[in-house]
Amino acid sequence: MKILVLGGGGREHALVWAIAQNPKCQKIFCAPGNAGINKIATHADLNILKPDEIVDFCKNKAIDFVVIGPEAPLLAGVSDALRLQNILTFGPSKEASMLEASKSFTKEICRSGNIPTAISETFYDFKSAKTYLERSDYPIVVKADGLAAGKGVVIAESKKIALNTIESMLSGRFGVAGDSLIIEEFLPGEELSYFVLCDGKTLLPIGSAQDHKRAFDGDRGPNTGGMGAYSPAPTLTKALEKKILSKIIKPTIDIMNSRGSPFLGVLYAGLMIKDGEPSLIEYNVRFGDPECQVLMVRLGAQILDVLLDCAEQKLNESRINWANDSAISVVMATKGYPANYKKGTIIKNISSAEKIDGVEVFHAGTKTDSNEVLANGGRVLNITCRESNLKLAHKKVYQAAALIDWTDGFYRNDIGWRGLK
Ligand code: AMP
Ligand code: GLY
Repeated sequence: MKILVLGGGGREHALVWAIAQNPKCQKIFCAPGNAGINKIATHADLNILKPDEIVDFCKNKAIDFVVIGPEAPLLAGVSDALRLQNILTFGPSKEASMLEASKSFTKEICRSGNIPTAISETFYDFKSAKTYLERSDYPIVVKADGLAAGKGVVIAESKKIALNTIESMLSGRFGVAGDSLIIEEFLPGEELSYFVLCDGKTLLPIGSAQDHKRAFDGDRGPNTGGMGAYSPAPTLTKALEKKILSKIIKPTIDIMNSRGSPFLGVLYAGLMIKDGEPSLIEYNVRFGDPECQVLMVRLGAQILDVLLDCAEQKLNESRINWANDSAISVVMATKGYPANYKKGTIIKNISSAEKIDGVEVFHAGTKTDSNEVLANGGRVLNITCRESNLKLAHKKVYQAAALIDWTDGFYRNDIGWRGLK
């Protein structure tokens, strides 16, 4: 079959890499892609936020299946437009994508389904938010209601920081994402990313991972989109998984169905675990990045079969063959990320890292120029390794990272520390 993947980050490189290994995949296109993706997939010159452009391309090229990586095209209505033309698509509808796009929407679902989550309130103006902060305990968490590329969350240690944050959010620092904000209770515990495919009826768990959101070693520095991940997350016991499904995921899916906006795609639950009890921090309606990279190296070619079953609404027939393995991915970012960083610096020696058995180097923000790979974003490369155990995967991934010659890049040296403990 002919497949089109939308997106151009490390997540999409991992998806393209795994899908292309499946014999069902005869031809794969990707828009906009990146220097790594373009070695596997044919570059499609498309604006992925324009549903009509995507539909036309699919008709012209007789595309059989579209896989949507990031949230932005989902919210632009791309999945809806494709389904309207009977083009098989992996990715939820725009309406169901509200689970990620609006934190207040998700909080409301949590209230009606009695889903464990941090106690919160939504605010539209400075005065009422300020009054709330006067009588709050600290730390407290302030979040822009809408999408802010993983940067719209501030854990405020004091009232002063919280007040500054609400002031800057409501004065337009995040555009419309900050038109309203959420103030919520700080949840202590250990974080877990949990992924489940859903076709509206059947749930198929497809793995767990732990991300590292802070920029620097020791979980210090500003929040980022994620500096590295490993899978599986040892926190996830069978008993915990049962609770996550029954107390959080199933009620959410049921409510979405009863409201006439069934969820079809991958639901990514960001969870906080304390004393064996899960609380929902947030939903995403896509694979995590870099969590996807560790899931894909563990799942390999079978990912295409399960994504197809999900899109065809026959997940009840789907099975995943899990190996007893572990994977880890270390993000190399441009110095200065997540704030200011420059583009266009040269990265050398990627191929030496790739020669290590079990290692894949997925590209995120890269491009090629006269056969050189150039940094073209904040998060740039994802050095990823699958091995029989986390310790070995960790050793090899850092051996590989050390071989890459890029003085303008940096990475965390402690990815996976909780799992190794
Ligand atoms: P989010 O974008 O909602 O995933 O938030 C980004 C990060 O902020 C999360 O991965 C957590 O590390 C942290 N966070 C968000 N909400 C809370 C909370 N209520 N309590 C503690 N940490 C939180
Ligand atoms: N790694 C976090 C995210 O994809 O939202």
